[in-house]
Amino acid sequence: MIKFHALSYSIISSFISCILRIFYKGSFQLCFISQVELIDPAVKGTLNVLRSCAKVPSIRRVVVTSSMAAVAFTGQTLTADVVVDETWFSDPAVCEKLKLWYMLSKTLAEEAAWKFAKENKIDLVAINPGLVIGPLLQPTLNTSVEPVLKLINGTQTFPNITYRWVDVRDVANAHIQAFEVPSANGRYCLVSRVAHCSEVVKILHELYPTSNLPDKCADDKPFQPTYQVSQEKARSLGINFIPVEVSLNDTVESLKEKKFFSL
Ligand SMILES: NC(=O)c1ccc[n+]([C@@H]2O[C@H](COP(=O)([O-])OP(=O)(O)OC[C@H]3O[C@@H](n4cnc5c(N)ncnc54)[C@H](OP(=O)(O)O)[C@@H]3O)[C@@H](O)[C@H]2O)c1
Ligand SMILES: *[C@@H]1O[C@H](CO)[C@@H](O)[C@H](O)[C@H]1NC(C)=O
Ligand SMILES: *[C@@H]1O[C@H](CO)[C@@H](O)[C@H](O)[C@H]1NC(C)=O
Ligand SMILES: *[C@@H]1O[C@H](CO)[C@@H](O)[C@H](O)[C@H]1NC(C)=O
Ligand SMILES: *[C@@H]1O[C@H](CO)[C@@H](O)[C@H](O)[C@H]1NC(C)=O
Repeated sequence: MIKFHALSYSIISSFISCILRIFYKGSFQLCFISQVELIDPAVKGTLNVLRSCAKVPSIRRVVVTSSMAAVAFTGQTLTADVVVDETWFSDPAVCEKLKLWYMLSKTLAEEAAWKFAKENKIDLVAINPGLVIGPLLQPTLNTSVEPVLKLINGTQTFPNITYRWVDVRDVANAHIQAFEVPSANGRYCLVSRVAHCSEVVKILHELYPTSNLPDKCADDKPFQPTYQVSQEKARSLGINFIPVEVSLNDTVESLKEKKFFSL
């Protein structure tokens, strides 16, 4: 993985040639447009990388790490029979109204990326993962794994939240496939299952019957509803989603191994 500061245009430009060399060697190094947490870094960072790519005619494709945050927040009510797919685009006005700043940043960044790609004839592919869990490579905790740690580490209540769970190994694989499969195009939603925290607690209880899991919701019912996310396009890229049970198991095992908690 090559790292650079996404807000510095000159540094990015100097790295692009290096990334190119790696691609020529045919190795698996990936250039992620990553960590865009607030609007300016998100949009400017993304455009800086794309601007650098546009200058190098031999770059054949750019894969941007977007998010389900840029897909699911359209203002439409999500219920069990609703199937969210790649045609959905979060509405910036809806995100703003609900003060969903991360969603807004990812939405604006992806929008800007598509606009720039079209104007500059860049072959762009977007990967739109849900909440990424799974074994940790690094010694530190990541925000998206924190909800699992909280549930398994003796919290009294579980939050009234429905997440779009996906395994980091599927996300990594999808990025590789997006580069490697010539016909890859457009966006790819990556969600193994949409599940409320109450359901995740049940799964964790089956996996770790002796653990001290919360038995009530922080809010009263009704729970935030679940819905579906289409897997058709991701499957066409060769993704066979790891079941959320396996992801949760491996997340907890990894958290144990890295001594974030003990059972
Ligand atoms: N985690 C999820 O659930 C999830 C879901 C959907 C989409 N995504 C997207 O996936 C991408 C990666 O997320 P993550 O959860 O893996 O985040 P992460 O673990 O926090 O990693 C972010 C990476 O970006 C780097 N970075 C931060 N600011 C940067 C900057 N200005 N210029 C260059 N690099 C910078 C960080 O470098 P340092 O390590 O040096 O700080 C870090 O390596 C993001 O675009 C995120 O929106 C994540
Ligand atoms: C995730 O872990 C990486 C590597 O330790 C770290 O750079 C990053 O800041 C973490 N991200 C979050 C959002 O906690
Ligand atoms: C897990 O719970 C224990 C006991 O309440 C606490 O001391 C510890 O800080 C928690 N660990 C994390 C990483 O939250
Ligand atoms: C749980 O969340 C859903 C959806 O956001 C909401 O309709 C419901 O009222 C919440 N429950 C409570 C009591 O906060
Ligand atoms: C959970 O992880 C452990 C340790 O890696 C493994 O032995 C076990 O088979 C896993 N169980 C499930 C349900 O994935």
